[in-house]
Amino acid sequence: MYTFDIDTNAPKSELYAEMVRSADAMTSGEPDAVANMANIAALLWAFLPDVNWTGFYRVVDGELVLGPFQGKAACIRIPFGQGVCGAAAQSGETQLVADVHVFPGHIACDANSASELVVPVKHNGTVIAVIDLDSPTLNRFDTEDAKGVELLAQMIADRI
Ligand code: SME
Repeated sequence: MYTFDIDTNAPKSELYAEMVRSADAMTSGEPDAVANMANIAALLWAFLPDVNWTGFYRVVDGELVLGPFQGKAACIRIPFGQGVCGAAAQSGETQLVADVHVFPGHIACDANSASELVVPVKHNGTVIAVIDLDSPTLNRFDTEDAKGVELLAQMIADRI
């Protein structure tokens, strides 16, 4: 059993530092990508308040395919360039969306989602997956969240 000491009152930088340490400890030496993504999706879900979806889309044969996640069942395949995840995969850039309803082409997997953060995971400069976080609250994510998830993405890039 894994237990984590999650201080939701801690500054975001500390919360993410602790989350990345936990993810590092859980995935270190484990070669199975699905197991690692599954545990990281669960860690994101446990550490982050006010989220309704946390998980992965993987790049498979030139499109995004649903990976391990927490939250409601979601769209399985997303072409590059479509929706927030597709924009992150195509551009290789983090997408911080304060209001998904005004994002052109946003794909509504869960009608409750109001804001979204998507961070590409790059291995040797190539996008291999994206980490997707959804919240039912408008403007839930800020640049500190983006930085924290980018640190996580870097750490796991050769473990998924
Ligand atoms: N909203 C995403 C689709 C994935 S779900 O949020 C889980 C998008 O627009 O890419």
